[in-house]
Amino acid sequence: MGAIVIDGAAMARQVLCEQKDAAQRLAARGFVPGLAVVLVGDDPASAVYVRAKERACREAGVSTFDYRLPATTTETELLQKIDALNSDSQVHGILVQLPLPAHMKAVSVLQRIDPAKDVDGFTWRSLGALLDGHALLAPCTPSGCMLMLERAGVPVAGKHAVVIGRSSIVGKPAALMLLERNATVTICHSRTPELATITREADILICAAGKPRMVTADMVKPGAAVIDVGINRMPDGKLCGDVDYDAVQARAGWITPVPGGVGPMTVAMVIANVITAAERLAA
Ligand code: GUN
Repeated sequence: MGAIVIDGAAMARQVLCEQKDAAQRLAARGFVPGLAVVLVGDDPASAVYVRAKERACREAGVSTFDYRLPATTTETELLQKIDALNSDSQVHGILVQLPLPAHMKAVSVLQRIDPAKDVDGFTWRSLGALLDGHALLAPCTPSGCMLMLERAGVPVAGKHAVVIGRSSIVGKPAALMLLERNATVTICHSRTPELATITREADILICAAGKPRMVTADMVKPGAAVIDVGINRMPDGKLCGDVDYDAVQARAGWITPVPGGVGPMTVAMVIANVITAAERLAA
């Protein structure tokens, strides 16, 4: 039999269609939603991600303002650019692509973004609001995971959800979102002993460890929903997730592929956040 494959690419197209309708309604009132994308340096993977986000903006009728800054840009110059975007009325969302060059402190750069335009949901204000159950703009990867669970009909309330990974942009916010939906949540990480014993208890398993195929079939409860956040580039150039897909697919109840799973949904949620920000700023 095997798991139901949650097609993130198809679901993301659907989300973008819905966002396009919302963008048109805003545009009819004179507010064309706009996203500013700031890319510092020339990290090739970041350039790919930024292109995907800008393509999705075009599809959804969101204007993009593209800023490619050299790797030699100083932190002060970048902060000045963010200040200008914060006060630009055509810009409803600001996205500073990570990683930043080593001479910059990502944490202070990100905190400079106006929380009303923080479409990545990375500012302390956004993360604090999420902690208190009042999301302003929520981080896109975990909110994409939650929408996949919801639209695939995976029950969450009362279930045991296990999150592997404790980053501020995926693991921790994913755990908070699952808790908000009344799951019982366990967060595991690189120092967790007996990981498989814990993951085998999971009705929902979110894997965001960044380790290729680390989740093997014996770590998965039969019938569980397995959401793979990992995007690992292998030596042959192919992408692979954190989940040993073929073996786990035979055992799980639901599974997300890589590529074509969480990745496109993350992009779609960026657009959804731009529309939400524009609707609030236009109100
Ligand atoms: N780099 C890797 N993932 C992300 C993301 O979700 N947002 C930003 N801004 N940079 C990233």
